[in-house]
Amino acid sequence: MRSLCDYERRAADHFAADAWDHVQSGSDDGLTLADNRAQFGALRFVPRMLQDLSAGSTALNLFGRRHAAPILLAPVAYHRLAHPDGEVASMQAATALDTTMVVSTLSSLPLEQIAEAAREAAAALSRALPPLWFQLYFQPERSHSLELVRRAEAAGYEVLMVTVDAAIKRSEFPLPHGVEAANLAAFPRTTQRTKAAGGSIVFGTPLAAAAPTWADIAWLRAETRLPIVIKGLLSPRDARLAMEHGADGIVVSNHGGRVLDGLVTPLAALPGMVEAVEGRVPLLLDGGVRRGTDVLKALALGASAVMVGRPQLHALAVAGVAGVAHMLHILRAEFELAMAQTGCARLADIDGDLIAVD
Ligand code: FNR
Repeated sequence: MRSLCDYERRAADHFAADAWDHVQSGSDDGLTLADNRAQFGALRFVPRMLQDLSAGSTALNLFGRRHAAPILLAPVAYHRLAHPDGEVASMQAATALDTTMVVSTLSSLPLEQIAEAAREAAAALSRALPPLWFQLYFQPERSHSLELVRRAEAAGYEVLMVTVDAAIKRSEFPLPHGVEAANLAAFPRTTQRTKAAGGSIVFGTPLAAAAPTWADIAWLRAETRLPIVIKGLLSPRDARLAMEHGADGIVVSNHGGRVLDGLVTPLAALPGMVEAVEGRVPLLLDGGVRRGTDVLKALALGASAVMVGRPQLHALAVAGVAGVAHMLHILRAEFELAMAQTGCARLADIDGDLIAVD
């Protein structure tokens, strides 16, 4: 196994067919899914030579905390679809590689148990704990959203990533026996699926009524002191609104091509987002990151860090903790190599001049 794509190829054999389809699929015709990979392939580097690499480092600071590299594990639901140890295994691997894993609202194990797994792994390795981040999906009831936030705070999560691009999403995947949204177990079940045809579609349904708005961001800002990172923005106007509503960071993302098909790619949207935020908040990017060179391209266009989604589940399914740790190691190693080969000793050396203008 030498690349993230090797894990992807092998992973199909480790999932039930419908779970594999659920993980891999993009919406409709998969245009956005394909574009997310193609966006990186379309860029070419212009490297610098003879730079001093002796004090090189991939480290960065986000919200006052050190991260070993500008690579995080994106929030991904239901890791137990990939492996019985689920998010605990992924978190152990992330901790071993000094990496932040953003824990999803839809984790298949309780957020407290995952945080505890991180602490135990850090103690066993005699290492500092990488910063814990929690991803929030607003719940139909504000009191339930708040309960999740309070639980995350109490469990030691330091950053809230609020995902706003998937409130209206079609999903017909029935969770297999033994896999559930562990954090939501105490909340009443809501049937909030959009229907392809027949009856009301979106408008006039509880789904549309419960979809969060900027007012919910303002409400959340007033309820917590944790940094808020809004995930799923592609428009510079939304970037400005996010900052006006007190967001501390933004993830430029099209949800890995899983929501609306035909969306702009994060990389294509990034320059406009960079201009809109004027350096006031960090921009993260995800969607199709599979190579260290992809990470470098995203940073060259102005991202502070990237996240990887599906590769976590691929590696987890193929080889459990060892797989996720190895996957992260591969990506980190490729990224460091790409930095060195383009003459960048530090992240601050990475800028737009690295990318060829055609
Ligand atoms: C996701 N994603 C996601 N995002 C989020 O904020 N909360 C979630 O629970 C999930 N769940 C989820 C499940 C699965 C199976 C996938 C593939 C994705 C989106 C995820 O955070 C990220 O934006 C994309 O996965 C990035 O694209 P790549 O790296 O998968 O190409």
